Amino acid sequence: MNFTTNIQLFLFFFVLPFIHSSSQSTAPGDVITLTKAATIGKPGCQTRCGNVTIPYPFGIGPGCFLSEWYETTCNTSVNPPRTQIATLPILEFTDYTFRVPNKVASQCYNPLGNLTEDIPTSVNLALTSPFSFSMKNRFFLIGCDDVSFTANPLQGDYTSGCIALCSTPEDVENGSCSGVGCCQTAIPKGFKFYYVSSFSLLFNHTSVSSFNPCTYSFLGEQERFTFNGVSDFMDPNFRNRTRASVPILVDWVVGNSSCSEARSAGVLACQANSECVESDTGVPGYRCICNDGYQGQPYLEPGCQDINECDDPDNLCDGICTNTPGSYTCSCKDGYVGDGLKNGSGCVKKSSEFPVIKFSLGMGFGFLAILVGITWLYFVFKKRNLVKLRQKLFQKNGGLLLKQRIMTTTGNVDSTKVFTAQELEKATNNYAEDRILGRGGYGVVYKGVLTDQRVVAIKKSRVMDETQIDTFINEVIILTRVHHRNVVKLLGCCLETDVPLLVYEYVSNGTLFHHIHGKTTMPWLTWENRLRVAAEAAGALSYLHSATSTPVIHRDVKSANILLDDNYTTKIADFGASRLVPLDQTQVSTLVQGTRGYLDPEYFQSGLLTGKSDVYSFGVMLAELLTGEKPLSMERTEEERNLSTYFVMSMKENRLFQILEPRVVREGTLEQLQKVSELVKRCLNLEGDERPTMKEVAIELEGLRKFTQHPWASQHVDEENANLLNMETEETDLYAESINPYSSIGGISSAFRIDKPVV
Ligand SMILES: *[C@@H]1O[C@H](CO)[C@@H](O)[C@H](O)[C@H]1NC(C)=O
Ligand SMILES: *[C@@H]1O[C@H](CO)[C@@H](O)[C@H](O)[C@H]1NC(C)=O
Ligand SMILES: *[C@@H]1O[C@H](CO)[C@@H](O)[C@H](O)[C@H]1NC(C)=O
Ligand SMILES: *[C@@H]1O[C@H](CO)[C@@H](O)[C@H](O)[C@H]1NC(C)=O
Ligand SMILES: *[C@@H]1O[C@H](CO)[C@@H](O)[C@H](O)[C@H]1NC(C)=O
Ligand SMILES: *[C@@H]1O[C@H](CO)[C@@H](O)[C@H](O)[C@H]1NC(C)=O
Ligand SMILES: *[C@@H]1O[C@H](CO)[C@@H](O)[C@H](O)[C@H]1NC(C)=O
Ligand SMILES: *[C@@H]1O[C@H](CO)[C@@H](O)[C@H](O)[C@H]1NC(C)=O
Repeated sequence: MNFTTNIQLFLFFFVLPFIHSSSQSTAPGDVITLTKAATIGKPGCQTRCGNVTIPYPFGIGPGCFLSEWYETTCNTSVNPPRTQIATLPILEFTDYTFRVPNKVASQCYNPLGNLTEDIPTSVNLALTSPFSFSMKNRFFLIGCDDVSFTANPLQGDYTSGCIALCSTPEDVENGSCSGVGCCQTAIPKGFKFYYVSSFSLLFNHTSVSSFNPCTYSFLGEQERFTFNGVSDFMDPNFRNRTRASVPILVDWVVGNSSCSEARSAGVLACQANSECVESDTGVPGYRCICNDGYQGQPYLEPGCQDINECDDPDNLCDGICTNTPGSYTCSCKDGYVGDGLKNGSGCVKKSSEFPVIKFSLGMGFGFLAILVGITWLYFVFKKRNLVKLRQKLFQKNGGLLLKQRIMTTTGNVDSTKVFTAQELEKATNNYAEDRILGRGGYGVVYKGVLTDQRVVAIKKSRVMDETQIDTFINEVIILTRVHHRNVVKLLGCCLETDVPLLVYEYVSNGTLFHHIHGKTTMPWLTWENRLRVAAEAAGALSYLHSATSTPVIHRDVKSANILLDDNYTTKIADFGASRLVPLDQTQVSTLVQGTRGYLDPEYFQSGLLTGKSDVYSFGVMLAELLTGEKPLSMERTEEERNLSTYFVMSMKENRLFQILEPRVVREGTLEQLQKVSELVKRCLNLEGDERPTMKEVAIELEGLRKFTQHPWASQHVDEENANLLNMETEETDLYAESINPYSSIGGISSAFRIDKPVV
């Protein structure tokens, strides 16, 4: 207690003379613009002094300040002019504060411990003033052997202090004011009058005098202070009683009372568009603050002014900015939506229609592009694959084999064309159903029209395995070699498809089978024509058997394989089963093939194929022509089911004329019928050796034809015959080297033609 009393006395003694005596100036700090106010002070009043802008309620000169507490003076006797409130120099004003220079108290000791300098200091803001030291200030003490106190003797019990100690310069930490060489302490709220002094705590600085002879203490803004360590002990600035970089921050309020009291008393200083805020400085009073969106002088008429936020370059509005009292609105142009704010959604084109279209278009085009690309690729690959496939098929279908065979044979290869799959697809209208001419075990035959308008028959084989290639090649080879007017002409083939395709001349009038067994009677099928067709077929078969360099056995002779063209000319078709028999062999061993009813029983049993098998089948066909009966018929009794046995039996039993077709009986002469029947019987002999050769059959039939001079033979048919015979002679030289039955009987035919009376 005694100690405290002493301090009090001591403080009074030293501090009081300095109150209101501070006159020393320092370099003013940065001027901070108070508000964004257009009006700082009262109109007509000086608002600047030196670098300091003076805002109302402060003011220079009568009528320029709110009350005498805010009266400011500008001391122009110093340069630059110094702004003062009473004698207190002001460095700058802010909205709620002002800054004043600090004042440093110092004590210095000599090495012996004698106190050589002791300058206390004080700043008095006057007890009744609206000012107080801001809580942002700190009381600082710099020294190594000291304790310091600050107090407001006029306010009684406000005291605070701190102790700073150190033994060696190394103890002192640069930048850290926390008790070693430097200490700091907060000040009480509402602190208005401070004085300070310090004492040596321990040894009157004798232990540290070498580096710290003095102690300095002062009040200052904490943010602005940095402890520089040992160098601060010797800072010459302190000798001038100031630490210029650390001003004291002073809060100010207006009035003497709370907002509500002032308002009810009718003395509220706050003007329009401003708000009264209670003082938080520890000093009674209030402050006026402009409402949001307003700026200016809340203490002066006409109050705070609306801020035109739209003029602010930092405004966040990117669209149409519209200023409103206290605020602004931000909108977007027509056709745009959004809040228009840079940190918000901004303005974007209306999403309802356009982006949808844009998006769709974008997607559409993108998708289209991809589609086109894929399609293109697909077709490129497909085409490539197709080409490859066709090449593969060509090989599979024996293209190479065919080429090879064709090359090694002497046949007229040029006339056989290799068609492309495309060509034939087009010709058959992509194998349309309505183009089908017939179906069979071999496959399907389509009618086709080539690009040169030629009508053709296109045989599409059934899917074959590779072992069947030979069969296919066979027909091609045989037909490319055989050139006979009564053999259907092979125009070409196509090997590029999975099944081989053969292109024949188109024979328009169907098969002989159809004509014989058809529902309607065929007027053309006269005895004479029957004989002719038989002779033509026999001639062609004879030619095949003997005329070509390598004999060909048809193996499937039957009425269904005899085609008839517009003029009812015979065309033998379907050489799929045919075999080439090397000249040095008279028979070949094969798998039995043929059609039931026509099949040579000997061949069926032995499997040995000779030309006589065709003769047997031809015999059956001849019987068919004579009787109009089918080779196999369920309508006949079991023993008569087979036409061949039926026919032979009938002959044996002398009832042949019962089974011959009435028209044949009517039209044919007895001799003819007898001879033909005999021929049939011989052809149907169960022993092949006993059968006549095809050549013999052909000659015999041709011979019989000259007896067909009937007065009832139609001119039409005769003309046809003439026609055919003309063609015959034209073609004769084609197989001149062969033992063609035509070559020997052609003369007869011609003679017959010439002799024939024209009715
Ligand atoms: C004060 O004004 C003087 C000249 O008027 C200028 O040189 C100085 O930089 C200013 N100081 C501040 C802190 O603005
Ligand atoms: C102005 O400053 C000078 C020099 O510091 C001083 O003598 C004088 O008293 C001051 N005037 C006022 C009105 O404070
Ligand atoms: C101070 O100096 C004086 C003489 O100048 C001396 O007598 C005294 O002992 C010194 N010491 C103290 C602690 O006063
Ligand atoms: C203290 O630190 C500051 C920055 O950290 C530096 O600029 C200054 O020179 C230092 N002072 C001493 C005495 O080390
Ligand atoms: C410090 O000086 C004061 C008076 O100047 C004296 O009373 C006190 O004894 C001294 N203390 C020491 C430790 O020298
Ligand atoms: C202290 O003040 C005087 C005059 O006021 C000046 O001449 C001197 O340069 C100042 N010292 C420092 C270190 O600023
Ligand atoms: C506060 O009231 C006292 C006493 O009425 C008066 O002296 C003082 O000037 C007033 N202060 C302000 C800032 O109005
Ligand atoms: C944009 O920034 C302003 C101020 O920085 C803020 O008030 C507002 O909420 C922000 N808006 C959005 C949408 O983030």
